[in-house]
Amino acid sequence: MRLKYAIGNWKMNGSLAEMKHISDIASAASELSAIKAVICPPAPYLSAALGAAGAHIGIGGQDCHMSEKGAHTGDVSAAMIADLGARYVILGHSERRTDHSETDAQVSQKAIAALGQALTPILCVGETRTEREEGRADEVVRMQITSSFEGISDGRKVILAYEPVWAIGTGLIPTMAQIADMFAVISEAVSFIPNHDQISLLYGGSVNGENAAEIFALNGVDGALVGGASLTSAKFAPIMQALAKS
Ligand code: PGA
Repeated sequence: MRLKYAIGNWKMNGSLAEMKHISDIASAASELSAIKAVICPPAPYLSAALGAAGAHIGIGGQDCHMSEKGAHTGDVSAAMIADLGARYVILGHSERRTDHSETDAQVSQKAIAALGQALTPILCVGETRTEREEGRADEVVRMQITSSFEGISDGRKVILAYEPVWAIGTGLIPTMAQIADMFAVISEAVSFIPNHDQISLLYGGSVNGENAAEIFALNGVDGALVGGASLTSAKFAPIMQALAKS
């Protein structure tokens, strides 16, 4: 059984006052037992978010270092995220890959560090617009999966998010046929991972309350990683509800 996830990535947004949106999201989620909702706030707000979340939603980080501790100014370890009581961490998001030149090899090391602290890594992959226009989207995503998931020994403990880079924050989304085709490629590409049939596969990139139901109806899509539309319950609850109905 693959769990259905609605995961909110707050990126570098939010404030202490805005933790009330997490409480609102948690109360909307409390009526939806068929899905797992998770919010990933910026690291300084993890504790406050955990307080606001209660038992109905999970809380996660947006990145972690591959080392447990040491001289890495500005970084946060998986152990620290776990120590607070968070249970998830987004890894290899395209904004990390672009802004911090993160490589697939680093993403794989971070995932192994996260698993070592019993965090569930949410590993992100996805092609750029140029790569899609050049007809290389399938090949790029396959390679990212092969390298970023290297060393992962149990598919039940990880989540994969396919996020076409050109769809993130742009309001553009692939056609339903393009998403379905890519999910078929992904299902094949993860087959080297033990228990790969248990990996929840999410779509991300401009998901909102209007397009969510259509995306969740696609074969193999187990949920979504959501940026902008996860910042308030008014926007995120319709996505969680669409997932619960799918
Ligand atoms: P978006 O972001 O929903 O705002 O497009 C998705 C993401 O980057 O995870």
